[in-house]
Parts: sequence; C-alpha cells; structure tokens
Amino acid sequence: MNQNEKIREMVSTAYGKAIGLVSEGCGCGCKPLNEKDSIASMAGYEKTDISSLNSDAAASSFGCGNPLAFSGVKEGDTVLDLGSGAGFDLILAAKKVGPGGRVIGVDMTEAMIQKARENIRKEGLTNVEVRQGLIENLPVESASVDWLISNCVINLSPEKARVFSEIQRVLKPGGQMLVSDIVVKNLPDWLRQNNQVYATCVGGAISEEEYLAGLRKAGLMNVAVRNRFVYEASQIKAFFETGEVPGLKEVIHDISTQNRENLIHQMTKKAVGNVWSAEFYAQKKGE
Ligand SMILES: C[S@@+](CC[C@H](N)C(=O)[O-])C[C@H]1O[C@@H](n2cnc3c(N)ncnc32)[C@H](O)[C@@H]1O
Repeated sequence: MNQNEKIREMVSTAYGKAIGLVSEGCGCGCKPLNEKDSIASMAGYEKTDISSLNSDAAASSFGCGNPLAFSGVKEGDTVLDLGSGAGFDLILAAKKVGPGGRVIGVDMTEAMIQKARENIRKEGLTNVEVRQGLIENLPVESASVDWLISNCVINLSPEKARVFSEIQRVLKPGGQMLVSDIVVKNLPDWLRQNNQVYATCVGGAISEEEYLAGLRKAGLMNVAVRNRFVYEASQIKAFFETGEVPGLKEVIHDISTQNRENLIHQMTKKAVGNVWSAEFYAQKKGE
C-alpha cells in the first residue's frame, strides 16, 4: 500500500467509525450525534431543509457549508456529489432536480454508503444512486454532469490534482461546480501532521490560492471563491474535540503540558483565523 492509499484508508476508517459511533471517530465539525442538527444549521442549511426530512440524514451530516444552496441546480439536471457521506446533500439535490433529474453520490466508505442508501430509501426517492469509488478516479461517465457539488471532502484527498482533473472530465461542456471545503493558512507542521487532525478536515487542507490554482490547472474556467465562513474559536475547538487525539503528544514539540484539554486549547489558538470554510465555483468550457 503506498502513502496515498494509507491516507485514504485512515480517512475511511475514521468516517466509518464516525457514522457508527461518533465518540470513537470524528469528521468535519465532529459532535455527538444528538447535537448534529445544530452543526447542519451552522453549515448554512435552512431549518426547513432539516425539518422536512423523514430520515436522520441531517444528523449524520459532516459538511462545512451548503454547496447546493449556492448552486444553480434546477429541475431535470444531473448532479454529482463527491464524498456524499450519509446523503444529506444528495437528498436535497434529488428534491431540487425532481423526477426528471438524476443525482449520483460517490463515496469510498462502505458504512457511509449503507447509511446514505438507508436515508434515501426513507425519503422515498428514486432519482438518486450512491456509487462506491474514489473521488480521484470517479466511477462516472465523462461529460455527463450538469452540476458537481462536494461538501468538506476534497481537503481529505492526498491527490487533489487528480480530483480536480476528474471534475473537469465528468462535467458536461458548460457544466458547473460548487464545492464547500475547508481551507487553511499558516498552520504549523505539528498540527497538520497528526492523523486525527487530518481526518477532521484540517490537516490535509490547502490554501484558497492553491485550491484556485489547482482548479485552473485542471482546465476549469471562471474559477472563484463565492463565499466564506470563518470559524470562531468555539467552532474550531469542536473540530478538534474528537474524544481521542491519538499520537498528538508525540507531534507537539512547542507545548510543555501534556494535558489533553490544554493541547486542544493550544491547537485552537493556532488555528483561529487560519482555518475557514470556502465555497469554490468553477465551470467547464462550453462547446
Ligand atoms: C467530512 S465527510 C463529508 C460527507 C458529506 N459530504 C457531508 O456533507 O456530510 C467526508 C466524506 O468523504 C468521503 N471521502 C473522503 N475521501 C474520499 C476519497 N478519496 N474518495 C471517496 N470518498 C472520500 C468519506 O468517506 C466521507 O464520507
């Protein structure tokens, strides 16, 4: 197994645990399940998005934004969600595109896929499917997608250039993308190098500039940041409060105390103002 495969396996294990037993694992904005609907509100969803559900898809959401709300998805569109998790955005997208449209989710984590399929079944939706696969090698036909969305996933990829190329490949000519993701600046290496911090969507995150450059390099146009959500200290702390932060003591050299609460406090202090959620727009050149 090469290094990239090892990172994906670590991320998938974390999310498999997070969906089954949150206290053992964590995701972006990790919180106990019964507090998760407030996380969904924090990510920018309307209360009606959450209250209209027949499933607990909102409670199992690990997003950091609401890409669908800022997209122009309309009836009849084909929508692709990269890293669809437990399916909250898939369900909202399926309602938007209606019976004449189609929604496809791709995720690598078996437990997430099962949860998403269960949630979709409970919503009675027949225009959504979830495919198991990697966002670096999408199981999706070229030039087949009107709108590509993704919520807090690409930061987790160890091969972002491959993901950006795949976005360019699967979009139809003129097709559009709206992606919410965590971006960072000036984070110390000790904070980035920890596996758990990687899985909470911070360790693998790149800067806004790197993101925009990566999208342009893949051939996408009209690339822009459409929106930003800058986290307060309490929200950053929630990212790091993962129940366990294994191995953290070993990677922190500039902190004298080994007390977990203090470590999280120190990490939060370093991250405030340096970690935020951005919404990226891009479009594939038309014919
Ligand atoms: C932070 S969660 C976000 C899930 C969902 N988008 C949401 O808003 O709730 C990240 C998801 O991306 C998936 N994922 C991470 N890296 C992936 C990769 N390289 N290929 C496919 N899925 C990936 C994980 O399995 C997990 O379900």
